[in-house]
Amino acid sequence: MVTADNRDEILAALGYGDLKVTGRLVDASNATLFGEITVGDKSFNCIYKPVTGERPLWDFPDGTLANREYAAYLISQAMQLNCVPPTLLREGPFGFGMVQLWIDIDEDVDLAELYRKDLPGLRNLALFDVVINNTDRKIGHLLPTPDGHIYGCDHGVTFHSDDKLRTVLWQWEQKELLDSEIEILKVLAADLDGDAGEMIKQLITSEEFSALKLRVERLQAEKVFPSPSPDWPAVPWPPF
Ligand SMILES: Nc1ncnc2c1ncn2[C@@H]1O[C@H](COP(=O)(O)OP(=O)(O)O)[C@@H](O)[C@H]1O
Ligand SMILES: [Mg+2]
Repeated sequence: MVTADNRDEILAALGYGDLKVTGRLVDASNATLFGEITVGDKSFNCIYKPVTGERPLWDFPDGTLANREYAAYLISQAMQLNCVPPTLLREGPFGFGMVQLWIDIDEDVDLAELYRKDLPGLRNLALFDVVINNTDRKIGHLLPTPDGHIYGCDHGVTFHSDDKLRTVLWQWEQKELLDSEIEILKVLAADLDGDAGEMIKQLITSEEFSALKLRVERLQAEKVFPSPSPDWPAVPWPPF
C-alpha cells in the first residue's frame, strides 16, 4: 500500500530510478508498456506510456494523454483520496512519457461483481471521475488491493472541456454528497487556486482548466452525483 510515509520514496524512485521496459500490455489501446524501475537494491514494477506511442484521438489533442494522466494523479492527491497510484512524467527508453507505479491487485476479487458495489473506495473514484470528467472508467480500470484499497488507472482521456463523463460507476446517481465529500471539494477548490492549480495549468489547456474549476463549483452547489447524460454514451464500450 502506498502511504504518506513511503509515497515520497516511491515517487523519487519513479522519477530518478533506472527504467527498463520489460513487456507490453497486449490488450491495451495505446503503447502501454510494462517496466521495471531500479534504485540501488530496490526495484518497482511500473506502467510506462511514452507520448510517442499515443494513438491520435478525434476528441483530444495529440500528445497530451500522458499530461492528463499526471494531472489526474495531482487531483487525486489534492482531494486526498489516494485513488491513483503514484504517477509522474519523465524520460524513458522510448522518450518522454508517464510512469505509474504498478499495483498488484487482489486476484480473488471478481471485478464484475466489485464495480456494482456501494463501497467508499469506489464512491471516492466516482466523485474523482466527475471532477476529472473521465470518459473511460472501465471495470478493468479498477485496481483493488489485498488490503482493501481501490485504485483507478488509465486517466488519459480526461479533463475535456465538454461534459463527457463515461463510466461503469453510476450507482450514486443523484445521491446527495456527504459532508466529507463537500469538504474534499472545498479543499480541492482552494488547491486549484494555489500550487496544485499552477501545476495542472501546465498540463491541460486554459479552457479545460476553467471547465475543471466549473465542475468543482457545480458539484459544491448541486451537492449530488450527476446522472448519465442523454446526449452521450454514458457507459464505456466494452465495459471491461
Ligand atoms: N498502475 C497500474 N497497476 C496495475 N495495473 C495496471 C496499472 N495501469 C494499468 N494497469 C492494467 O493494465 C491495463 C491496461 O492499462 P491502461 O492504462 O488501461 O492502458 P490503455 O491506456 O492502453 O488502455 C489496465 O486495464 C489494468 O488492468
Ligand atoms: Mg485502458
